[in-house]
Amino acid sequence: MTFPETKSLVGIDAISFATPRAYVDLVDLATARGVPPEKLTQGLGALRMSIADRHEDPVTLAVDAASAMFDRADVDPSQIGFCAVGTESGIDHSKPVASYVHGLLELPSRCRVYDAKHACFGGTAALMAACEWIASGAARGRTALVICSDIARYEIGSKGEPTQGAGAVAMLIAERPRLLEIEVGRSGGHAADVHDFWRPLHRRDALVDGKFSVSCYLDALSSAFEEWSTLERERGRGEALVRCAYHVPYVKMAKKADARRALVEGLTVEAAEERFRREVGSSLVFAGEVGNIYTGSLYMAVASMLHHEARDLEGRRVGLFSYGSGCAAEFFAATVAAGAGRLARRLELDRPLRDRVRLSISEYESIRRAEGEGDPVAQESHTVAGASTVFVGVDAVERRVYQRAARGSSPLEGRSAA
Ligand code: CAA
Repeated sequence: MTFPETKSLVGIDAISFATPRAYVDLVDLATARGVPPEKLTQGLGALRMSIADRHEDPVTLAVDAASAMFDRADVDPSQIGFCAVGTESGIDHSKPVASYVHGLLELPSRCRVYDAKHACFGGTAALMAACEWIASGAARGRTALVICSDIARYEIGSKGEPTQGAGAVAMLIAERPRLLEIEVGRSGGHAADVHDFWRPLHRRDALVDGKFSVSCYLDALSSAFEEWSTLERERGRGEALVRCAYHVPYVKMAKKADARRALVEGLTVEAAEERFRREVGSSLVFAGEVGNIYTGSLYMAVASMLHHEARDLEGRRVGLFSYGSGCAAEFFAATVAAGAGRLARRLELDRPLRDRVRLSISEYESIRRAEGEGDPVAQESHTVAGASTVFVGVDAVERRVYQRAARGSSPLEGRSAA
């Protein structure tokens, strides 16, 4: 039996990302942990990892990513009718991150607002729901805001520690998108009930069965890619994929993923290595600087790819693979829109990586220790520099209090990132 496909042109109209200014250099971390630096820089492919301080959280990162996108891509917030945040580092068991974001960005009250949670897959769940909302006609011409925002934390000294990171990616989803036209309804998927990575409600740090998580990721990729390839054969092959962006918990994982896809396709090891350099490299530059940002990792890879070569890719087809532990995965394709190169230049997607502050290992460890003491108490006259949105603290009845600099104004004064 065949089913009609959606003919709507829907996808990512604009994109932006935010990450804390503070970072840990992985050579410093390796030295402190008594590990050869090459194990982290080559074995994992990671150079630096962003570290959020006590006044940064998934809300502040999400708002900063979205407001940068509004400013640089001429987005009209009054047209947004859907605001979904993919996150797995939620700050409240009930109130969604999306509600804070909706308020701080002053989005319209006629808006569907919610969080989507499925480990690192939550952002893709929100993105697909947004695309389908528009393709179905339910949007009535409005646009959707999808934000992926997370802080990746593992225990100090654990194997996962060098794969931490923090950041958010904001995307505007619209008809006739200016950056990436997503092939809605043509994804290959995979799901299974596995215990590869989890975070019990009382914990800030994730628990992980590291090696098992890698094999779950690769098995999910084979399965999702096989279904996508079957659909390609049944519905008529499109253009070949010229790039592929993966979920990137650490850079080397994308290499393993591309090698697994090559195996499914029957490529030789040499051909696979050559293809990896050509077709995946540009998507990994930001991840090497930031680390894992969970829900946003795939979309930070897309931003990195567009930043480095959007102009050359206009009209070309790319693959995307999303993985969330637990687990769920999706492989899908998209076409880079005509004119994407011009918009990508205006977006200045590498701006969050300029002007960063290198933490010493003891500064980093004291930030992590302070997290264990709970949330700061909101002070009436609190001011913070280096970010436009700040988590001030909790008030007397544990409501979270945020402060946001007015759009276009200079950052708040008073504190260095370290
Ligand atoms: N020089 C160069 N390379 C070296 C080296 C050295 N001196 N010493 C070791 N290496 C290499 C190893 O050969 C290995 O490479 P391969 O994977 O290609 O074999 C690599 O460095 C890693 O070394 P280990 O195998 O010893 O790995 P580890 O025990 O340190 O743990 C990890 C690695 C499992 C990824 C761990 O960091 C971890 O648990 N991370 C968190 C979980 C994670 O990211 N999982 C990914 C899939 S799940 C997912 O994607 C969801 C998500 O976002 C979490």
